[in-house]
Amino acid sequence: MSFNGIVTNSSSSNPVSGGRVDLSEWVTLNYAISFILVVVSLIWASWPAALSKSKPMVPGVYVVGGSNKNEMKATAKRFRNESKTLIREGYNHTKGHEPFYVPSNLGPRLIIPTRYMEELKSAPMDKVDFVGTVHEVFEFDYTGVVHRSRTVPNTLISHLTPNLPKIMPEVQDELKVAIHEEFPPCDDWTEVEIMPCMSRVITRATSRMAGGKALAHDPEWVTAAISYALTAFNASQKIKSIPWLVRRLVAPWISEIRKDIPWCFSVAARAAIPILEHRERTGEDATDFLQFLKDNTKDGERENSFISHLLLMMAFASTHSSVLTIGALIYDLCAYPELVDIVREEYESIVDKDGNIPVGEFNKMVKTDSIMKESQRISPITVLTFERIFTEDKTLRDGFTIPAGSQIGVPNFQIGMDPNFYSNPEKFDPLRFEKLRNDPNRANKTQFVSAHAQSMSFGRQFMDQECKAFLVKLLTNYDLKFKDGQKRQPNVPFNNQYVLQRVPIMIKRRNL
Ligand code: HEM
Repeated sequence: MSFNGIVTNSSSSNPVSGGRVDLSEWVTLNYAISFILVVVSLIWASWPAALSKSKPMVPGVYVVGGSNKNEMKATAKRFRNESKTLIREGYNHTKGHEPFYVPSNLGPRLIIPTRYMEELKSAPMDKVDFVGTVHEVFEFDYTGVVHRSRTVPNTLISHLTPNLPKIMPEVQDELKVAIHEEFPPCDDWTEVEIMPCMSRVITRATSRMAGGKALAHDPEWVTAAISYALTAFNASQKIKSIPWLVRRLVAPWISEIRKDIPWCFSVAARAAIPILEHRERTGEDATDFLQFLKDNTKDGERENSFISHLLLMMAFASTHSSVLTIGALIYDLCAYPELVDIVREEYESIVDKDGNIPVGEFNKMVKTDSIMKESQRISPITVLTFERIFTEDKTLRDGFTIPAGSQIGVPNFQIGMDPNFYSNPEKFDPLRFEKLRNDPNRANKTQFVSAHAQSMSFGRQFMDQECKAFLVKLLTNYDLKFKDGQKRQPNVPFNNQYVLQRVPIMIKRRNL
């Protein structure tokens, strides 16, 4: 029913006015009713998102920047660019032993000590929710990115890790070809923006693991896999800048939501479904992540189109974390050129005739592993990890109760800077973790793959081997250095992210 239609029809039969209708009153009344309806529906549509911002707080817990409403508002504003400083203040105040709050863009965050993390690690996902935090950061209500399904993390652990010996030779083959194709020739020292080249190389290698050559050599898929998380992040930043009352109205017009995210879904479907259908038709078996997903999914998730969505989720979780971690490492190698010789010396005694690291030899790269872990300690991709939302109250062993609605995090960066754990923590000490392997109390936390505060990733076994294999291929083929006068730029906090500052580097092909 249109607005004009209501006025016309009513004017002839209005019982109250006895037949004569003042049209201007009706127009005003209908405007008012429509306005109220629009406002009510907007509030209704946005209410859950708005509610999630009002987080309960445990009384008596230290609040960085002060606990009254105005102080918390001011600290939350500072969180955007000063998260690292604010977390350090809370950590020092509580000596790293007690929980504290840091007001932030997503409400007051409860920062917990690692002993709680150990206790909460095995809590069921529906009560201590990881995906909920991803949904909040990426504004799932509007962007629709990242499904609740646990199939991707479960399959990484149950199928990918045990099959790495079969998969890594393929991945190493892809790295060799991709570096050759994606890097400029560099016959002489050439200035290169390494991050875009590396994004394509790493995404191709990960795609080879996920769907063999067909996926790795599909340039449109590689572009979609790289851009999905970036697009979702840009969309979420735009959403966050819009007043919540009108978000439902405005969101569909944001270009990332209207165009770019749907494009990524369509490319994933176009790339993955034919591979799966071909296998169904021919009975061909494959040892790759798509096949693991197909074999591992249940009832509602078995559709090939849903599996293509899961593939995109894997790309979402893996691409940027891997590229940024390896990027930080490359900058560290440029800042400390003597490390390149250490890495080369280590792999030269291991690699086979094709320059590949043989199955079972990855863990012999102890020095390289230490350099990778030290690089991650100083330049992690986030300042908080183990972010979770509590869907119900949880009382911990020492009696501390985390209320439902709390959003928690572990201060991984600050723990890495704690002199009680790391002597001279500000210093980049590349062989620190190699030395710590001899300490019986620390030995199980000294490897790049060890689950500790810095990374709890489900893909960590794969990323460990992918990262080492990439280094071998890169350093076999190229020498690297900073341009004269260029220095390593420290990462910069942006909310929870610890953003790598991109700088061009100089690369030259080696004459072997
Ligand atoms: C150096 C590279 C990487 C880093 C630094 C990294 C880091 C992380 C971190 C900090 C988390 C959150 C853990 C938590 O809060 O419990 C995470 C989760 C995850 N990562 Fe990674 N990751 C990396 C590479 C990868 C790769 C290569 C894959 C896949 C092959 C992957 C798949 C995942 C998945 C599926 C999750 C969990 C998602 C969920 O629980 O729903 N990651 N990663």
